[in-house]
Amino acid sequence: MHFSVIVASAIFATRAMAVGVVGTPEGFGKGTTGGGSATPQYPADIAQLKTWLTDSTARVIVLNKEYNFIGSEGSVTETGCRPASNTCPGNGGQDAINQASWCTNGNAGAGATSISVTYDKAGISGINVGSNKSIIGIGSSGVIKGKGLRIANGAKNVIIQNIHITNLNPQYIWGGDAITLAGTDLVWVDHVKVSLVGRQMFVAGESASNRVTLSNSEFDGNTSWSATCDGHHYWTIYLTGSNDLITMKGNYIHHTSGRAPKVGSNTLLHAVNNYWYAVSGHAFDISSGNVVAEGNVFQNVVKPLNANTGNLFGSPDSNTNTQCAAYLGHNCQLNAFGSSGTLGGTSVNALVNFAGKNVASSVSSSGLASSIAANAGIGKI
Ligand SMILES: *[C@@H]1O[C@H](CO)[C@@H](O)[C@H](O)[C@H]1NC(C)=O
Ligand SMILES: *[C@@H]1O[C@H](CO)[C@@H](O)[C@H](O)[C@H]1NC(C)=O
Repeated sequence: MHFSVIVASAIFATRAMAVGVVGTPEGFGKGTTGGGSATPQYPADIAQLKTWLTDSTARVIVLNKEYNFIGSEGSVTETGCRPASNTCPGNGGQDAINQASWCTNGNAGAGATSISVTYDKAGISGINVGSNKSIIGIGSSGVIKGKGLRIANGAKNVIIQNIHITNLNPQYIWGGDAITLAGTDLVWVDHVKVSLVGRQMFVAGESASNRVTLSNSEFDGNTSWSATCDGHHYWTIYLTGSNDLITMKGNYIHHTSGRAPKVGSNTLLHAVNNYWYAVSGHAFDISSGNVVAEGNVFQNVVKPLNANTGNLFGSPDSNTNTQCAAYLGHNCQLNAFGSSGTLGGTSVNALVNFAGKNVASSVSSSGLASSIAANAGIGKI
């Protein structure tokens, strides 16, 4: 008794002192090491955080407070629009910035009107993270407010763990993306929380993002500025990169209304043991690519699948699911549906590309909803 108490406190003391990435990624992002064994460093302010994130030194960057970028680059007032989707102006709708002529090229829909928009400039462009970085938070204190992270143009080997990215002009479509991948390899996003963004919570496209694992993260779509006018964020996870291999495991996606995820190009997506809850619109929307969805829970999800013109294997029944073994190394697990629509998906063609890759394991969806809700996001490791 006495002995085990001493051992337990010794282990606790070791854990409390060791600041670093917890665990290792499984699935396609396996092998991502980020800043490796670099000495943990605590940025004093947003300027130092930006310098350390963008330089070419391998770093373990530790966030133990909020880094607030709002106002740091000034604000912009210009002509944007009230898109046709905003049927509830001034009452929970989302207006738009005219990014890439979105307001004027027809995307804003028939009946869209020009309006003046004022937004925070820091939110609309992410920090360009360099190679070999780990960005980790302590407890639930590591928050980046008003700016996202962008891993692009060949930067690779990046770990983002246990931080919260929030408040990127949530009132405006195109107000900001939380995490952007555009031309990278080996990225592990784990136990991250994203809330209140204007545009995508996570986006991989259009250039190749190669091997990526997105795990144990919380995508909280609860918003006062909804493109679907119902308090749910529409722009959630957008996976349209070329040559992207993306594992999504253990994520909690809730109070969203669309694109969670949208899949395009030749993306290979393994969506395993995730939990969708209170989705007023759709989860998957697949225009092309290969998707295997197994062992997930859909609770109060109006449409688990919006449309599919790619290859979707939705793990339809235990007999068909044995076909996964040859390519994924295990039989696929059934998905679970509570007060939800259907997913469908019987394309065994979606399985073929998994052969020879690092594939995440799967467990039965039984009991997963509560464990994922309790363990996903910031402050849980
Ligand atoms: C990242 O680390 C790898 C392995 O140590 C090294 O080869 C590469 O040059 C590093 N990249 C940068 C941009 O420092
Ligand atoms: C949504 O956010 C509002 C404002 O923070 C909060 O009062 C409400 O409880 C949240 N709702 C859900 C379902 O999380």
